[in-house]
Amino acid sequence: MGIPIVRTIAELRSIVAVWRRDGLKVAVVPTMGALHEGHLSLVRAALAKADRVIVTLFVNPKQFNSTADLIAYPRTEYDDAVKLAPLGAHILYAPNAADVYPAGFATTVSVSAVSEGLCGAFRPGHFDGVATIVTKLFLQTGADMAFFGEKDFQQLHVVRRLVRDLDIPVKIVACPTVREEDGLAMSSRNARLSAAERSAAPRLAEILFETDRRLNCEDYIDRVLHKARQAVLAAGFSQVEYLELRSGEDLGVIATPDRSARLLVAAWLGQTRLIDNVEVWSPQRSVQGFVADAA
Ligand code: PAJ
Repeated sequence: MGIPIVRTIAELRSIVAVWRRDGLKVAVVPTMGALHEGHLSLVRAALAKADRVIVTLFVNPKQFNSTADLIAYPRTEYDDAVKLAPLGAHILYAPNAADVYPAGFATTVSVSAVSEGLCGAFRPGHFDGVATIVTKLFLQTGADMAFFGEKDFQQLHVVRRLVRDLDIPVKIVACPTVREEDGLAMSSRNARLSAAERSAAPRLAEILFETDRRLNCEDYIDRVLHKARQAVLAAGFSQVEYLELRSGEDLGVIATPDRSARLLVAAWLGQTRLIDNVEVWSPQRSVQGFVADAA
C-alpha cells in the first residue's frame, strides 16, 4: 500500500487530531526530499519511538541563498513516496509553496549565536530560512518528537535552541550520520558530483577521521587543522569554507579537544558544496568513560 500524501494544513490537522484523541505519540521527520538512507534512518528511528510518523517534504525556498542551487535541487516526490511506503511511515506531508508562504508572509524566526559562524558565515539567511520552516512544521504537525540528522550539526543546534527559546513542546532527537561504504556522508547533493568528483569526495570524511586521530597525539591544534585544510585542497576540492574544532554542546570555539568536541567542515568540490562533521575523541572523555565502565 502506498503512503498517503497530504497537501494542506487543514487535512494534516484533522488527521493528527484523530491520532491525538486516541492518545497516540506523533513524530515528525522534516526533509526536502530526494530521500536516501540518511533520511530513511531518521524515519526508522521515529517509527521505533512514536506511534505515528509524519515525513515532511518541502524544498524550502527561504533557506537557499542561491537561486541556481534552489532550481538544481532534486525533486523526486514519487520515488520518495515509494521509498517511504515499505517502512511504514504514516503520512507524507508535501505542502505547496503558495500555502506555506502565502502572499503577505512577513515573519522570520531568527536564532542568534549558534547560527553564526560555520555555515552561517557562508550562507547568509540560510538558518533564518531553516528556523522559520521548522517552526512552522512543528506548529502545523503538533508533533511530540522531531528527528534530525547529526550530518547537519549546526542545523541541529539551531533547532534545539529555537525549541527551547520558543517553548515549543517537541522533543528533538538527533540521529548519527549515515555514510556510503567509502565513508562519504550521504547527501541529496552527492547526486550532482561527476564520476571524478565522486571518487575524490570520500577524502573529506577520511581527512576528518585522520585529523581526529592527530588531534589526540599532537599539541599544536592550529597546525593540525591547517594541515587538514591543505589535505582537503590536495584531494581536489577547490575551496575549504571552514574546517574547525568546536564544542559539540554549543558549537562554541574551543582551543583543545577536552570536552565533547566536533570537527566540522564545508568544502566545494566542483559546483557542489559538501559538509561533514565527526565527533572528536578526547583523552578526558575516554578516561571518564573508563571510570564509568569500571564502576
Ligand atoms: P534535508 O537535507 O533533506 O535533510 C533532512 C534531514 O535528514 C535532516 O535532519 C538531515 O540532517 C538529515 N540527513 C541528511 N543526510 C543525512 C545523513 N547522511 N545521515 C543522517 N541524517 C541525514 O535538512 C534539511 O533537509 C532541511 O534543512 C529541513 C530541516 C528539512 C528544513 O527545510
